[in-house]
Amino acid sequence: MTPTHPSTYGKLIVFEGIDGTGKSTQIKGLADYLTGHGYSVTLLREPTDGPHGRRIRQLATAGLDGISAEEECELFRLDRVEDVARNIRPALERGDIVLLDRYYFSTMAYQGARGLDMDQIRRANEAFAPIPDRVLYLDLAPEASIERIRSGRGETPNLFERREFLETVRANYQSFGGDGWIPIDASRSREEVLREIIQALEASDLWTAPSLDAK
Ligand code: TMP
Repeated sequence: MTPTHPSTYGKLIVFEGIDGTGKSTQIKGLADYLTGHGYSVTLLREPTDGPHGRRIRQLATAGLDGISAEEECELFRLDRVEDVARNIRPALERGDIVLLDRYYFSTMAYQGARGLDMDQIRRANEAFAPIPDRVLYLDLAPEASIERIRSGRGETPNLFERREFLETVRANYQSFGGDGWIPIDASRSREEVLREIIQALEASDLWTAPSLDAK
């Protein structure tokens, strides 16, 4: 894999999946691989470290149950509006490969699991947010993802309730598809998952295809 059009518009690659599927580990692995092959890579995540993202994290620590699904959805949208303007578009305009940890598919899957209409969320987001070139969806059963969080991060995600919620979020993700959507079985070792991600990207002509968002 070598850079083909270093001066053209960049590529937007999104990682999605329920909590504990290894998204951030895989993003680091892919970033190292791409950087080693001469690509310029920008790493981003949502919620961001901007004012709306910080507010979301504060609320999450206090328990997101305190706000309605609509308010939650709006906070994620506002955070994304800022992320697109300040970080995502400028990086794409520089020609970078942007690796983004969560995007509007998270809002569809999670706030959809709280009862909101997923198509409406997609439309509201695609009105301002660039359509990603590829979405790597890391699929894992909630039992396994909760166990990874417990053993890996030393957190003890309570609850039966959380597991039930994540089952719904996963079912939402599994209902998505279409252009650029790449499901990855995340139950295997991190090395195997990274190998599959790299193979899937190489097989998908990403490097030569025009960006989906380039106008
Ligand atoms: P993180 O653990 O990946 O940083 O994400 C924080 C939590 O926020 C995670 O449980 C997923 C959730 N989330 C949403 O509910 N909607 C969204 O739009 C985003 C980006 C994240």
